[in-house]
Amino acid sequence: MNKKEDFAPRVVRWQRSHGRSELPWQNTRDPYRVWLSEVMLQQTQVSTVLGYFDRFLTRFPAVADLAAAHEDEVLGLWSGLGYYSRARNMHRCAQEVVSRFGGEFPRTAAQLETLPGIGRSTAAAIASFCFGERVAILDGNVKRVLTRFLGFEGDLASSANERALWNLATQLLPAGERGEDMPAYTQGLMDLGATVCLPRKPSCLLCPVGADCRAKALGEQERFPVKTRKLRRTSQSIWMLVARDAQERVWLEKRPSSGIWAGLYCLPCFGTRDELSAGVGNSALEDAPSFVHVLTHKDLHLHPVGWAAPANAQPSANGAWFSRDAWQGLGLPAPVRKLLAQLEP
Ligand code: ADE
Repeated sequence: MNKKEDFAPRVVRWQRSHGRSELPWQNTRDPYRVWLSEVMLQQTQVSTVLGYFDRFLTRFPAVADLAAAHEDEVLGLWSGLGYYSRARNMHRCAQEVVSRFGGEFPRTAAQLETLPGIGRSTAAAIASFCFGERVAILDGNVKRVLTRFLGFEGDLASSANERALWNLATQLLPAGERGEDMPAYTQGLMDLGATVCLPRKPSCLLCPVGADCRAKALGEQERFPVKTRKLRRTSQSIWMLVARDAQERVWLEKRPSSGIWAGLYCLPCFGTRDELSAGVGNSALEDAPSFVHVLTHKDLHLHPVGWAAPANAQPSANGAWFSRDAWQGLGLPAPVRKLLAQLEP
């Protein structure tokens, strides 16, 4: 057998004996559970996802329950997982599964990919786990495993190289026409990427395909995957009005449906301190310590400014007063939740 033909059987055997098998979304072929977990795992690690996955399933036992929920409740339950567009897409996806597919997830990767928030790799993961379809996944971890094994030198900043890697990933799939090995193979690639083929100091001695890995033979594992484009980081300063009334309630607004923190509840935000004080007149404002919140592409310099609002004040046009119990259940940006948690009760 040549080394490429041996790749899939080795990954499958390794997954069955050494891979993860006890995660709550494994040992099921229910596409609702698998979809929920895959979307949550897109940018979040397993240990964090576990609790959220249970809470979502308890509150929304079936896709129709999620479809029928109010967006605010979905965002509230998502709060803390970050990348909130995932939660909004997830909600829209549930609604489309109900409206376009009668409440049953479609059974092919091609159809799954037409749903909001399901990209090519997530569609393939769901189709291979639930329906044994022979389709390749290629998320960040799997790109690392495959580019190293193949010694793939193409720069993944180029879409032509990315396409070439998708084709190679498809050629490496297990042979069985019935797809009986697909769930173990797909999970095996994910498990290898997450536990063995690590970005730094991979554990090559534990790898089932290490003997034929091109990057290992070269001793250059960390050079793969090759990707040149660098994120250009920007920074932004935001002044946040922390208005509190005599009952210790805080004033929050719902953010617009696009842009940063879309759809979440938030303190009123201003581009300068002057804009903030213009909004509330000449009343006594109290500057609290500034802090930096790091997003994927941007450093946010946040400047909270406290204000003891007089009775019946409306600190901004769109918003409402929220007690501690009320805001705790809302979808809030992580730094806002942190800030509010520090307020004296
Ligand atoms: N990351 C993405 N999908 C995963 C899965 N099914 N199991 C573990 N980690 C994952």
